[in-house]
Amino acid sequence: MTPEVKAFFDEVTNTVSYVVKEPEGSACAIIDAVLDYDQAAGRTATTSADEIVAWVEARGLQTQWILESHVHADHLSAAPYLQEQLGGKIGIGEQITVVQDTFGKVFNEGTQFQRDGSQFDRLFREGDVFMIGQMRGEVLHTPGHTPACLTYVIGDAAFVGDTLFMPDFGTARCDFPGGSSSELYRSIQKILALPDDTRIFVGHDYKAPGRSDYAWETTVGEQKALNVHIGQGRSLEEFVEMRDARDATLGMPRLILPSLQVNMRAGQMPEPDEQGDVFLKIPINKI
Ligand SMILES: [Fe+2]
Repeated sequence: MTPEVKAFFDEVTNTVSYVVKEPEGSACAIIDAVLDYDQAAGRTATTSADEIVAWVEARGLQTQWILESHVHADHLSAAPYLQEQLGGKIGIGEQITVVQDTFGKVFNEGTQFQRDGSQFDRLFREGDVFMIGQMRGEVLHTPGHTPACLTYVIGDAAFVGDTLFMPDFGTARCDFPGGSSSELYRSIQKILALPDDTRIFVGHDYKAPGRSDYAWETTVGEQKALNVHIGQGRSLEEFVEMRDARDATLGMPRLILPSLQVNMRAGQMPEPDEQGDVFLKIPINKI
């Protein structure tokens, strides 16, 4: 089955969000939606999410799922806002509990912060199947960038989140807490075992050197032949050495602290104080 895929690119965070629609019928899923966030002002906006809402509403689509490929560290999730506007169930990988445990400690969250994934409507594990109308989606657990990373294989399309990027850019970093370059290698082999003509939709694009346009769609065959980090049958040892050396040079993403605090709660803000005001924390020297 060949779903219709509409991409929305957020240039501020280099994130690609997707609407995946069944070829016949009106059911759709939304993957990795962005809530705009002005860090300096501490102000959120729904400009990006509203573009998705408008697209979905203009076509009369029925949103069944709002999916996260993982707990993003570079943007806030718009999942709760989209759910309010369009309906649908919010899903993420069951290993979210590991992420909640790690960052529950980092942010010194009290016992009222549940670490059981209950903020989400559905926790997926390897091999789970879900339906978008008549269209079948299957879940691959693809950890390495984070413990909870998933790839959603929907018809002939794989939404790989932050595992593989475009072939000329390579792969995702593995140096966040719970990340592992050897795990990412194994996860990517799972993706590359899909049929060569499987369409791959990546979670970010940063324009590789020499490329002037953003891009987000490729195929398994192209990744196997051309991926600069892992193509041409690169060995585990070679990959791990390259990935770990490169990660050691990378700074933290600009929005990692707000993103994790919000996204580990399925995109909800922390509980307001007695006055109804909401605050985010900045843990000092913790990550
Ligand atoms: Fe990520």
